[in-house]
Amino acid sequence: MTIIKNQSLKAYNTFGIDVNAELFATWNSVQDVIDFTQNPELKSKTRLVLGGGSNMLLTKDFEGLVIKNNILGRELVSKNENEVILKIGGGEVWHEVVLWSIAQGWNGMENMSLIPGSMGAAPIQNIGAYGRELKDIFVSLEAVHIETGEVKTFDLEACAFGYRESVFKNIYKGQYVIVSVTIRLTKTGDFNTSYGSIGVELEKAGVKKLTAKAISDAVITIRQSKLPDPVKLGNSGSFFKNPIIPAALYDELKFEHHGLPAYPAEEGFMKVPAGWLIDQAGWKGKRVGKCGVHTKQALVLVNYGGATGQEIFQLSERIIADVIQKYGIELEREVNIF
Ligand code: EPU
Repeated sequence: MTIIKNQSLKAYNTFGIDVNAELFATWNSVQDVIDFTQNPELKSKTRLVLGGGSNMLLTKDFEGLVIKNNILGRELVSKNENEVILKIGGGEVWHEVVLWSIAQGWNGMENMSLIPGSMGAAPIQNIGAYGRELKDIFVSLEAVHIETGEVKTFDLEACAFGYRESVFKNIYKGQYVIVSVTIRLTKTGDFNTSYGSIGVELEKAGVKKLTAKAISDAVITIRQSKLPDPVKLGNSGSFFKNPIIPAALYDELKFEHHGLPAYPAEEGFMKVPAGWLIDQAGWKGKRVGKCGVHTKQALVLVNYGGATGQEIFQLSERIIADVIQKYGIELEREVNIF
């Protein structure tokens, strides 16, 4: 493990925030992670493990060690006539694995095309889009315990996946490094096109026979029309979570605010689109200095170039305060703040 001093993190976070890491290193193998756990000096440093850097906002220089998980590998564990089991390295880029799996004729990842980030980061918040979540294809993952170096396997139940949630965001926060994720993909149909705009997009494209490729193309078209490309415009996807509120509160709110959309969540609760609340509160497309709210999707905050993490954080504070004032709903950030 080579340690670099005073490394800019600009290229390592999709917001494109230019802060420095005091120390920077890369893990290229599971052994690198285990070696790290046996090094008391390195372990004593404050640390931040990076995947694709696509779900974080860096608000200051990082006084400590930043480590990029770069563990690669795509292993075919087993297959039969209906399905394949694949073990994917935690450092693999999610979307590259999606495209590769589709090219092999395997289904299951297509709805989650173009989600930025890495394979190892995907379970942390159970990433999802267009009616599918990581948990739908998940078999297990391998993680190294940072303190002991023990390699542990977590099955579906042990991960306790929820909406943008898992044990790795809660009880085990910061304790494990996810070194591989094992997924199950199918060779036959079982497509999910129920999410509104996918059907419309497939029709527009004149798709007659449903395939993973056709769905992936539709999802890519939809995402590109709403979500900015981080290479061109720094962003972290959805900045806020969609709030889940008691159904009784929703019934009250919909009287006052006509057209407030909602989707059923767990028993007695409704999920309200944060994008709608922020949009209706007048923030969509608003620019504040070098950052702002995306013109095509109010859930996404963008860096027009040269914004600091602090500026983007302050903008998010103003949005949260305004939405509380107008709707009595407290938005929660989806991105991690450092
Ligand atoms: N809406 C507006 N104005 C906006 C944006 C949204 O009124 O500017 C309303 C519309 O009524 C729309 C509804 O909000 O029908 C929902 O919007 P959309 O379908 O764009 O999805 P979302 O709820 O905003 C979620 C995920 C996305 C994921 C999409 C598609 C969260 C926080 N976000 O967004 O995930 O791609 O669904 O499945 O759950 C991400 O996590 O980074 C991300 C992009």
